[in-house]
Amino acid sequence: MDSPNDRYQQIAQRHGVDLASVSPPSFADRIEALEKCLADKNVPFPIPQDKAQECLRAACSGQPFRIGMLSDQTVDLGVYTNAQHYDAYTFEENLSWACLIAEQQKSKHRYACGEYLHGEELFSIGGAVIPDFYLLNARIFQQTQWQLATVNQIIPAELFFTCHSRRFFPVTTFMRALEQDYLQEPDIGHDVAGHVSTFTIPVVAQLMQSHGLARNRIYQERDDALAVSTDPQERQAIERRGDELLLYAERIYWFTVEFGLVLEDPSIRAYGAGILSSPGETRFSIDSNRPTRILVDPSSDRDLLRLATTDYLINEFQKTYFVIRQFHLLESITPERIVRIAKLASKLPHFSWRDLVPGDHVLQVGESAVSTNEKYLRLAFHSFDTHCEQGDECLTRTAIRNLRLFAKKSNANAELCELFGSQIPPVPAGIMDWFVPRDDQGEFPQATRPLDLAPPV
Ligand SMILES: [Fe+2]
Repeated sequence: MDSPNDRYQQIAQRHGVDLASVSPPSFADRIEALEKCLADKNVPFPIPQDKAQECLRAACSGQPFRIGMLSDQTVDLGVYTNAQHYDAYTFEENLSWACLIAEQQKSKHRYACGEYLHGEELFSIGGAVIPDFYLLNARIFQQTQWQLATVNQIIPAELFFTCHSRRFFPVTTFMRALEQDYLQEPDIGHDVAGHVSTFTIPVVAQLMQSHGLARNRIYQERDDALAVSTDPQERQAIERRGDELLLYAERIYWFTVEFGLVLEDPSIRAYGAGILSSPGETRFSIDSNRPTRILVDPSSDRDLLRLATTDYLINEFQKTYFVIRQFHLLESITPERIVRIAKLASKLPHFSWRDLVPGDHVLQVGESAVSTNEKYLRLAFHSFDTHCEQGDECLTRTAIRNLRLFAKKSNANAELCELFGSQIPPVPAGIMDWFVPRDDQGEFPQATRPLDLAPPV
């Protein structure tokens, strides 16, 4: 039987990792590197001396890293507060990091867009051992003015985007198991190795902060409305609306910052951190004919609305990727537009992650692509005949949401057609008569998506 060391040796070889390099620096070495970094003035954003001293004092005292302290901003993370206990990482966790980074490097160099690779060049993360967050935070701040905030799990969207509004990026501290490619929960391999290079792309850093500022606007409007409302039911509706608008803003983030592709004529390349942190999904998103790929221009309201009205699941590779026509067009996604588009989305029927919508600029029709009416047909016919294939959770919840909307607002499809500039088929005859009485009797789930768990990973 193989000893643990033989097993590690085999795994390291498989990924081209030198086992001897998996050797975390000592406390003294980390402090020395941090001191040198903090003193570096030859960087875009030098660290003020008082902040540098405070940071060094905290690191020298052995206090684990919790949240960056190099700007005048901070965020209260409440029950999600975490800390990086650097010396507690095991050899296996460091090896897992080294193997993942080795694989990511191979796929990034083949599939990442030029801007992302430039970010990686400017800001190499290093593959041998898990980064010390004190040093990493200082280096990120010097290049981008973003900082790290450690969290203990997926945090609510509201808090996630509050962090963004102050240029904090929430990061977990745990490392995935050895040789695990895709995971639903973000880990350091996603948060650090996937996202950090994207902060160095000014247009992406701006897009991320714009989502934070959009969150502030949404919740300011909510708080203003709450201040003049005393009716408990009305107050509940106001709170729900704030969360709902943030959910639609979050979809724009998901399809750009997390899972964005970009056209680098004639090729498609990746910049989304969710894609690039998974070598398997990186290949899948670009080379496979299984997912759908749709070209979008985010400066067009129609296309931005397409992102905000598209629902998705997080527990498997995406069914549809949106390819940004040109990278610089991401600049057009301002906080004002995010809020305006989210409000429009709240009034319209939505699409599932499999839907092809008339007017889409489709580059690749994926194997699971369906027409916009498929979700209603599957919901209805599966209830009559369980041999008829049921829609996935995304199709089902989108169908229920839309049918409830049509029941209240019969012109919703006409409004959708006008905003999309294309003819989107109405719900098939008979479906509404079938759905409404059943929904009144509580046959369908009330909450089609738990808003407080919507994770912008
Ligand atoms: Fe992410």
